[in-house]
Amino acid sequence: LRHLLTLEGLGAPLLTEILDRADTIEKSLRGPDKKLTTLRGRTIVNLFFEPSTRTRTTFELAAKRLSADVLNLQMATSSTSKGETLFDTLKTLEAMQADMFVVRHEASGAAHFFAEHAAPGVAILNAGDGRHAHPTQGLLDLLTIRRYKGPDCFATLRVAIVGDILHSRVARSDIHGLRALGVRDIRAVAPPTLVPAGIEEMGVRVCHRIEEGLDGVDVVILLRLQKERMLGAYLPSLGEFHRDFGLTRKRLSAMRRDAIIMHPGPINRGVEIEGEVAYGPQSVILQQVSHGIAVRMAVMSMILEARPGERTAKTAARG
Ligand code: CP
Repeated sequence: LRHLLTLEGLGAPLLTEILDRADTIEKSLRGPDKKLTTLRGRTIVNLFFEPSTRTRTTFELAAKRLSADVLNLQMATSSTSKGETLFDTLKTLEAMQADMFVVRHEASGAAHFFAEHAAPGVAILNAGDGRHAHPTQGLLDLLTIRRYKGPDCFATLRVAIVGDILHSRVARSDIHGLRALGVRDIRAVAPPTLVPAGIEEMGVRVCHRIEEGLDGVDVVILLRLQKERMLGAYLPSLGEFHRDFGLTRKRLSAMRRDAIIMHPGPINRGVEIEGEVAYGPQSVILQQVSHGIAVRMAVMSMILEARPGERTAKTAARG
């Protein structure tokens, strides 16, 4: 693994290795000392051009728990506001001997741009690019499902992804990851205007009625309406969306009794999910947040461990 830009194309062996590594890391951190020394001396830069609560903080915690030095560039007060380009921002921070950049950007493909222009030995992790991909969210969702449903669950798992699938990078990453691990029953549950054309080619079944979408599922993944990406698109009113697609207590009976309820966050209470359901007994939404730390530690350590000293040697060669 050189960078992590998408889950598309990653096979089951690599995905399983990442999840296993996350399990091992989490077990090793159960004592009072929450730190490993794996990335001591390495520098990781968080570049978040879009707002974030969970992803940015768990990437920072993950890096610190691996003993890396962490820089959080505040984009609003950075020189990007004076016209500095993404390329020049990357090169400037590389000159400070950064080893890894964690990038979130509103443009699909932004992380690929960074990866294309990064110096050899510098790794890019995609923390969400437009509506394209959010690979570590996909991984933490897989880890959460595996924890609750068991390592052999994937062949027979029934998963409903409900909400604004059209604008969701999480949906795409979840679908790629679930398909790679062998899940055959994935349902995209949304009004026709919030389902991307051709999504069936990713191996999912489209349902426009939530009762059909939830029928007998083991896992439901809810998504918020991404109003910030709905420029000119049909936007159902929040009330309409809740009436037709919101997960309410009444609708829980359509799912299996042991089904888990997931959401990448942030949640919009009373829209895609009823407040009481969000923190009800079947919800694992906060466990997803915790799993994000272990998964991000796993990915960062696997990428940077694979190249010990490479960056140091290059920097030394530059004089
Ligand atoms: N799941 C997720 O990406 O949440 P944040 O936007 O808070 O990082």
